[in-house]
Amino acid sequence: MADHVVRIAPSILSADLLHLGRDLDAISGADFIHIDVMDGHFTTNLTFGVDTVRACKRASSVPLDVHMMVTNPDETVGWYLDAGADMVTVHYEAARHLHRIVSQVHAHGAQAGVVLNPGTPACVLESIIEDVDMVLLMSVDPGFGGQSFIETTLSKIRQVRAMAREHGVEPLIEVDGGVSAANVETVVAAGADVIVAGSAVFKSDDPASEVTRLRTLGTPGLAAWNVQ
Ligand code: DX5
Ligand code: ZN
Repeated sequence: MADHVVRIAPSILSADLLHLGRDLDAISGADFIHIDVMDGHFTTNLTFGVDTVRACKRASSVPLDVHMMVTNPDETVGWYLDAGADMVTVHYEAARHLHRIVSQVHAHGAQAGVVLNPGTPACVLESIIEDVDMVLLMSVDPGFGGQSFIETTLSKIRQVRAMAREHGVEPLIEVDGGVSAANVETVVAAGADVIVAGSAVFKSDDPASEVTRLRTLGTPGLAAWNVQ
């Protein structure tokens, strides 16, 4: 357990799209670039697609974490793999054949994750947790940046960390929505080790420093779950 670290995944949803290359350069010290793919159906917002993923791949060597908020991940996950996604996460609520999608991602040589909305209980992970590299827990209802962290996410993080231990696996646990310097240590202490931060990073005066600051502020939280 001692080798766990806090990883920061800035979400380009809050970047300045007219200066996306500049903003990607600013977060070259991040652990992932979080790309929110929204289709206007699963979410009431429409954002990035394959071309954006491809452009980010050309522009940065930071691994791409593609969060697919779409109603048809079974049909479209391959697009994002071909575009250069390093990690693909699909919503439990949208996937028809989740295990098959995870296998497809792995066959492509990428990492696979499953996402749960705030209203979806952790227990649905029982049959998939041994097969995924990451569990992404939404701490807001997906669609927009800048929303408030839903506090019940903390107990869900603890539940998933405990479930993973029972299964003898250690997936990354990523938390997405409303995380900032004010609560990052608490979120890590609950058992998370990948922190998505959109507005916290890109609305700050110095996104590069904010990535480092979030990682530094979150790291003491690791002690709370490493010793459990
Ligand atoms: C929300 C997205 C998030 C969003 C987080 O639907 O999945 O990735 O960018 O934004 P913040 O960090 O501002 O809550
Ligand atoms: Zn996201």
